[in-house]
Amino acid sequence: MKIRLQRLFLNHRIESTKRIIAGVIFAFAAFLVTGAGSNDPLMDKSRHWFKPIPENPPELIDNPLTPEKIELGKMLFFEPRLSSSWWISCNSCHNLGLGGVDQIETAIGHGWQKGPRNSPTVYNAVFNISQFWDGRAKSLQDQAKGPMMAGIEMNNQPSRVVQTLKSIPQYVKYFKASFPGEPDPVSFDNLTKALEAFEATLITPGARFDLYLKGDPTALTEEEKRGLALFISKDCVKCHKGVNLGGGSYHRFGAEKSPNAEIMPRQDKGRIVITRNRLDEYAFKSPTLRNIELTAPYFHSGKVWDLKEAVRIMGTHQLGIKLNERDVDDITSFLKTLTGRMPTISIPQLPLHRPETPLPDSSN
Ligand code: HEC
Ligand code: HEC
Repeated sequence: MKIRLQRLFLNHRIESTKRIIAGVIFAFAAFLVTGAGSNDPLMDKSRHWFKPIPENPPELIDNPLTPEKIELGKMLFFEPRLSSSWWISCNSCHNLGLGGVDQIETAIGHGWQKGPRNSPTVYNAVFNISQFWDGRAKSLQDQAKGPMMAGIEMNNQPSRVVQTLKSIPQYVKYFKASFPGEPDPVSFDNLTKALEAFEATLITPGARFDLYLKGDPTALTEEEKRGLALFISKDCVKCHKGVNLGGGSYHRFGAEKSPNAEIMPRQDKGRIVITRNRLDEYAFKSPTLRNIELTAPYFHSGKVWDLKEAVRIMGTHQLGIKLNERDVDDITSFLKTLTGRMPTISIPQLPLHRPETPLPDSSN
């Protein structure tokens, strides 16, 4: 935009039509700067509910991002020796080449065990108010401890993880560089800080919807705009708003009508287990809808593969309305404009183990 503007204004032989175009672009740029109305009521409304993903990773509380820490976090994200089997890494279930998920119903972990819930995406997770479907971890750093210790996921112990990392000299060096001046840099806590730092970089700016929010009315087609208008007018925004179109609040799955026991298995009672509040029975964090077309199957049960079907279910079970097929199509088209630019990630080369490294647990 800036370059185009400059070119227009530097050209001394602007013809009158070009001048008009320049004027329009200028007015448009001016409102962007001043934040004034856009002459596009839908754009104004959208800006009230949503925010674009920033181009750069957000600052983290008590965990400054440094290139060393981010690189170490990346190695750890791909490091299967954080699991007792040496076979499962964070990337096994949050595959960064598959939208940050595993694209299976519910996660498979240690000893081929099947977990109870679908793996949510790690992309843009940094913008969620909490982590996990039930929000039981308040930060990414907190969250990262869970899978390493979970028997059905990586099945390890903090002491064994630290022993493993300390036995590998390159890791000791990288932890020192990431946590300078600390007397004992290779710790379980610092491991989770490095993972959090890397995860903060897993953001996907530049979705077409974000270009629209930033002022480009041509970024969405008419059908997508109809879908966006419906998403707002039908009240999807009640639970899916902000930067992540979700990730900010908890709601009963089946606020209006409980889904069947296949889609919402009755044994998983959701957030009530954390809060002990009866109102949180079957409540889950409304998930982000960013990159939603890449992260099937849907819902915490992973039972729904078709995005249109997920939208229909939201209509009947969260809103108590039956969306007609055209509305479903339009909303689904809109949801597909939420796919952003994936960060470029090179696969890290992981340092070799040493004779002191605890060997994989072969009991399973
Ligand atoms: C065996 C598969 C598996 C492995 C390995 C695994 N995860 Fe997960 N992850 C899941 C599942 C399943 C959930 C949801 C669990 C729940 O909500 O109870 C989850 C949730 C998350 C979330 C929360 C996202 C959100 O929106 O709530 C983040 C972040 C995350 N994992 C990061 C990691 C990191 C970092 C590692 C490595 C230390 C890791 N995961 C290892 C399966 C896995
Ligand atoms: C009352 C709150 C609420 C409303 C209204 C609502 N949702 Fe949801 N949405 C949720 C919750 C909670 C979940 C997660 C349910 C679960 O899996 O337990 C969810 C899940 C989804 C999913 C699946 C996401 C995933 O990663 O699995 C999609 C898609 C979705 N909603 C779209 C919509 C659309 C479109 C509308 C409007 C037609 C809508 N939602 C209205 C709360 C809501």
